[in-house]
Amino acid sequence: MTKLRSVTLNEKAQSLCELPILSGATGPDVVDIQTLYQQTGMFTYDPGFTSTASCSSAITYIDGEKGILLYRGYPIEQLAEHCTFLEVCYLLLNGELPDTDEIQKFEDTITLHTMVHDQLTNFFKGFRRDAHPMAIMVGVVGALSSFYHDALDIKSKKDRDLSAIRLIAKVPTIVAMCHKYSTGLPFMYPQNKLNYVENFMRMMLGTPCDEFSPNPVLVRALDRILILHADHEQNASTSTVRLAGSSGANPYACITAGIACLWGAAHGGANEAVLNMLEEIGDVSNITTFINKAKDKRDPFRLMGFGHRVYKNYDPRAKLMRDTCHEVLTELGLHDDKIFKLALELERIALEDQYFVEKKLYPNVDYYSGIVLHALGIPSNMFTAMFAMGRTVGWIAHWDEMIADPEQRIGRPRQLYTGAAKRDIPPQHIKRA
Ligand code: CMC
Repeated sequence: MTKLRSVTLNEKAQSLCELPILSGATGPDVVDIQTLYQQTGMFTYDPGFTSTASCSSAITYIDGEKGILLYRGYPIEQLAEHCTFLEVCYLLLNGELPDTDEIQKFEDTITLHTMVHDQLTNFFKGFRRDAHPMAIMVGVVGALSSFYHDALDIKSKKDRDLSAIRLIAKVPTIVAMCHKYSTGLPFMYPQNKLNYVENFMRMMLGTPCDEFSPNPVLVRALDRILILHADHEQNASTSTVRLAGSSGANPYACITAGIACLWGAAHGGANEAVLNMLEEIGDVSNITTFINKAKDKRDPFRLMGFGHRVYKNYDPRAKLMRDTCHEVLTELGLHDDKIFKLALELERIALEDQYFVEKKLYPNVDYYSGIVLHALGIPSNMFTAMFAMGRTVGWIAHWDEMIADPEQRIGRPRQLYTGAAKRDIPPQHIKRA
């Protein structure tokens, strides 16, 4: 980070105020306001963080105007084409792509940690069978913190690395267990001879009664979906993980906070909402009605899978997801899939509509992911848990980066108070002895 120059603010400030302007590797410069309150007695006000850089980070870069997404400098398109999800995990955690030995060691280590403590299975039994998988995820991933007292010293890099491995390895096992629990099927143990995605697909879709041989095209598609979800700089759930971690909370608790935040329909819950929406629209002939609902300010309906805080251009992940969708549907002989055709037509109509054009609302990553996951045999209530599985590495990479940052302090925003001024309790409420 480079200090460029200072900006001077004096209107309304009690005194002249000098603030440094900092420059990162790329992207907009930032005004460093850390001394603003000290100098002027004023806070800044930015409820949705639309103009606020909450931290400095070297992990992921987004240019929302140009539709660019880079992990550690590498374009998402190249990573999706040439790398596996575990290579991307290594990259996000370590800053560089692994060589042959490094990836072999990383994959072996992850594989060895995929089983969960047998005691953990008891936590599932406390949930109703119809509990939403994200509710179970919040409970069970949070419970992991009670199993790993051996490596919870967050100041130790060795402990942090082990927590990262444990989370990346065990979250897929837990996701699959959530599904098995809700369908009443037995939990499947991981199998070490399978790779990360094959293993997950077997735990999720296989049963102990049958051999499960995953289709390589579908394995590659799921691997790519995980890559596309792996990180997205300071999004709501990652910022939640950072804020939780800033108090010194353990990594499992922090990732659980991220899972809880991801659940919302404005964030990771959107993939489930997209499929529900497409099913509700039902037919191409109903598209205009729903587009009009989305444009109507009095109607709370929004076109799910459309719009993004940062992307004011096509979300690059959505393009890749649409290609993956084509591949998967073709492989499964579903290229005439009614929902996919409906999605393509809805996208076409929305992108020509003045409302969506003016507001720069484009399909985001969630628009096509539900259709692919559905085709892979994953039920819609599991979609957000699948997102969490991909994003776990991003959360943990940011958490680790934050803990290692010498400037790290507890996150403690201030507010613009709009409540009552100081007042006395009225006489009728005063208790007399
Ligand atoms: N349908 C209709 N109108 C929309 C939509 C939409 N999907 N998204 C935004 N708008 C309108 C919104 O009504 C507002 O209009 P106006 O300026 O007239 O008040 C304008 O566009 C700006 O929207 P905003 O809500 O102020 O924008 P935001 O940056 O706060 O919210 C968003 C971003 C993603 C929450 C929002 O676009 C949205 O709710 N989209 C649908 C949910 C969705 O797909 N979420 C997944 C996000 S990508 C994956 C992830 O990060 O998890």
